Amino acid sequence: MELVDPFGRTVRDLRISVTDRCNFRCTYCMPAEGMVWLDRSEILSFEEIERVARICVEHFEVDSLRLTGGEPTVRAHLTVLIDKLSKLRVPTTASSEFAGKQPDIALTTNASTLRNIAYELKAAGLSRINVSLDSLHRERFEQMTRRDELENVLEGIKVAQDAGFSPVKLNAVIERGMNDDEIVSLAAFGRDTGVEVRFIEFMPLDASEEWGMKKVVSQDEIVAAISAVYPLEQMSARGAAPADRWRYLDGRGVVGVIPSVTKPFCADCDRVRITADGQFRTCLFSTTEFDVRAVLRNGGTDDDIATLIRHAVGTKWAGHQIGHVNFIRPKRSMSQIGG
Ligand code: 5AD
Ligand code: SF4
Repeated sequence: MELVDPFGRTVRDLRISVTDRCNFRCTYCMPAEGMVWLDRSEILSFEEIERVARICVEHFEVDSLRLTGGEPTVRAHLTVLIDKLSKLRVPTTASSEFAGKQPDIALTTNASTLRNIAYELKAAGLSRINVSLDSLHRERFEQMTRRDELENVLEGIKVAQDAGFSPVKLNAVIERGMNDDEIVSLAAFGRDTGVEVRFIEFMPLDASEEWGMKKVVSQDEIVAAISAVYPLEQMSARGAAPADRWRYLDGRGVVGVIPSVTKPFCADCDRVRITADGQFRTCLFSTTEFDVRAVLRNGGTDDDIATLIRHAVGTKWAGHQIGHVNFIRPKRSMSQIGG
């Protein structure tokens, strides 16, 4: 049975945060020091994650699983989880193209160790990789992530392509005054390497609360900057995917922009999330969470878990209100929710 929210949107995509930890400290996400990590005992085990995912896939016909963090690859033995998830099957009766097949499994990573694990991830059944990369200049990369890892990330992208991930996608958050002068060079990098670049508008999820509307570079500005150099043509409707996409008129690939702030795509949202500590959220910006871990650890049945999830989805709101007076920042920042 499909999971449909009060606004008629069907849930198809479960984002699973496997850890709140990260080996980077991106300025738009974490403070330099002083993050308080969850205790190991608070984090869902792979068996617990698999159970929640199985209920979503088998009961609710969810066909897309995304592993996020923090940085998901810092969780030990991540491939063991991917292997378990790849054995799930979407019901044959589902209306989706994944009926009878394994759900699509994606990973969002900072790619700092990807060069070492890309082949292993592929073999475990991972379908897609999204790499976060906001600057191609070594010093600026270090300024934004507080780590000197650019070379390793670039190497990781290459190895992932060699391992057969196609296309590798690249997420670039653009922050005014920081890396907005790199929009065209990041786009060019995508054209030259066959990576699909997706620019993301800066959202108010940074731990240090320095976000402001002035720091947001809008989708319109991003597209104007790219098309001034490489002419673009917008592609047709994106469906539930958050990125609007443009084709380069010279045929050299596609570029996406995720306009989370200036053109929220909430009306088409098909996503729900579970945090590393087992709290179910129906939006990145939710101010309420549903304690799936408590049900898992207090002997709840699959039906109990399914009932809680259905109840949570029944509270999903129409959309966030970033930029409006009535917007309330969630208490947790991005790395604690999962991107
Ligand atoms: N605004 C927009 N995107 C963000 N990410 C992290 N913090 C923010 C923010 N404040 C992105 C990362 C990564 C994904 C998990 O979320 O760059 O691509
Ligand atoms: Fe780590 Fe991702 Fe946050 Fe950067 S954005 S600090 S890579 S979790």
